Order: sequence, then C-alpha cells, then structure tokens
Amino acid sequence: MLNRIESLLSEIRGLSAASAAEAEQLRIKYLSKKGTVSVLFDEFKSVPPAEKKAVGMALNQLKNEAQQRIQDLKEQFDNAETSEGKVDLTLPGTSFPIGGRHPLSVVRNQIADIFARLGFSISEGPEIEDDWHVFSALNFPPEHPARDMQDTFFIHKNPDVLLRTHTSSVQVRVMEKQQPPIRAIFPGRVFRNEAISARAHCIFHQIEGLYVAENVSFADLKQTLLYFVREFFGENSEIRLRPSYFPFTEPSAEMDVSCSICGGKGCNVCKYTGWLEIMGCGMVDPNVLDLCGIDSKKYSGFAFGMGIERIAMLKYHIKDIRLFFENDVRFLEQFKSAL
Ligand code: DAH
Repeated sequence: MLNRIESLLSEIRGLSAASAAEAEQLRIKYLSKKGTVSVLFDEFKSVPPAEKKAVGMALNQLKNEAQQRIQDLKEQFDNAETSEGKVDLTLPGTSFPIGGRHPLSVVRNQIADIFARLGFSISEGPEIEDDWHVFSALNFPPEHPARDMQDTFFIHKNPDVLLRTHTSSVQVRVMEKQQPPIRAIFPGRVFRNEAISARAHCIFHQIEGLYVAENVSFADLKQTLLYFVREFFGENSEIRLRPSYFPFTEPSAEMDVSCSICGGKGCNVCKYTGWLEIMGCGMVDPNVLDLCGIDSKKYSGFAFGMGIERIAMLKYHIKDIRLFFENDVRFLEQFKSAL
C-alpha cells in the first residue's frame, strides 16, 4: 500500500495540463468518487491495524497534494482567461464629466464669430477706469447724470477712479493707440449702481463695436447691423432704427429687431409691439475722434453697443437676468452642448 501511495504521489507531482478542460479531466481521474486516490481510501479499511497510522498519514498527504496540484493547474487557466478572454478591451472607457461654457460666453462667442466674418478683430480694456476714458473723451458733458455716484461705482474721487459703466471706454483706448482703419469689437464686463431685479443687475456684459476709416457712412452701419441680426436671430429678421441720443455719436439711434418669439405679430416679450430693442448705435461724433487723436476731417466711423445678457435672454427665452450670476448647475447644464 505504501509503495502504491509513493508512486501515485510522484505521478501527481509531475502532472501538467494544457487547458482548463484537461485539468478538470485530471481532477476526475484522481479525485472523483471512483478516482485513483479515492479508491485507495476505500482500501484503507482492509489495512492491518498496525500499519493504519503510517498508511493513514501517507494517504492524507497524497490527497492534499493531489488537490493542491490540480487546483494550481486550474488556476493557471483562470488567470489566462481574465487577461485574454474575459476582459473586453473594445468596451468604451469610463468617461469623465466635462463642463460646458457659460451661456454668456456662448453668446459672446457667437456674436464675435459673426463680426469676425466682417473683418472685426477683438480688443479688451480694463474694468477699473478713469473719468477720461469712460466719460470725458466720449463727449459726456460735466453735469451728465452718469457721472453721479447714484449711477456709477466710484473707487476714488479726485482723481476719479471708477468701474466702467460701458465698454465704450475701450473705443477711446483703441483710437488713442491706433490710426484708422480700425474695425474691432470690445466685449467685457460693466458695472452700474442699479437695484438688482429680474431685468437689471449691477454687473453685466456688453459688446461694443467700432469701425473708423475714410468715407464710413450711416449706410455701412445699417448694413452691418442687418447682417449681424440675420446671422444671429435668423434670416427673416428685420431691423428698425429709431433716432436717439448718446453724447459720443451723432446722429445716434436705438436699434430694434423684429421679435423672434412671435415673428413680429406681438407677444408679451415684445410687449405687443413686434419689436425688441437690442442696441444703441450711431456715427462716431467728430469731437470724439479729435479727442482721441484721429483727424475727423479725414475719417468717419460708426459705433454700436449691446448688452450680452439681454441678447442671451431673448435668444434662449430666459426671464430673469439674475440666473446668469447664480451658477445653479441646473440652469448652466442646459447650455453644455453649445460652444
Ligand atoms: N455705451 C452705451 C450704453 O452703455 C451703448 C452704446 C450706444 C454704445 C451707442 C455705442 C453707441 O457705441 O454708438 O448704453
């Protein structure tokens, strides 16, 4: 008996298998009920009592080694399967949540793209300004209400340091540095001492536009704005210019666009007029050109300015301007796919 156990043990130590199925065959051959090892256990009953102890120990060792060996053979194929067969390397990877642009950036980029197609470049200026760039060079008379603390945030008085109330200040900075032809837009943040409500905020954004060259006429202004409006709000849009007043343009106008919500028929957004006011514009006042060092006898120009929030509210039917500044992800997420 001990000899048979001995030879079976060396047989088992030398086992090998080429596949998981072969290893299973070996388990059946040695360890199943009728397997070679199990049969020896059956014969154990007839071993004479004096040998029982030695044979029993040898048998147990044989069984343990056989189980371990076959288990090892099987595991070798388990590992191979996980790295080759079971992991599907073609499955898409785990995606990371990415953010989106803020709706005001989306709209600003759309506007900038349209003007870029007309040859307008982009410049920016400081948010903290002086009186000259925000008011004086733009022909604001000394007693103009915008110069009042009620309307403008002053950081310092005499000399005046203030938060710009409009991006028209960038016109001045650009004209002081550059001679015509100038064709550029100036996007940026502006500040006004206003009570915050659904329609007004003390911080908002504007895009200013400026074109100065020889023989620029009001017709150029009109055509530029019509092109912009049709690109932005749709090709059926119409514009309407109403005479107005700004210190830095002469003549000045407010531009309305036909209401894109009701198509001009009248609704509560356009207050049943069919028109939405979206920007101020006009021919740059010759005084402004001269104050900025540009010869007003040789050059003329047009300018316009619009609020980005207002345009975004009209385009996306947003009813409360405060939503732009609250950073509620439920609001912002809706613009995720826009560029
Ligand atoms: N700066 C004006 C404002 O903040 C908007 C404006 C009106 C800009 C007429 C212009 C313009 O360039 O020509 O209300």
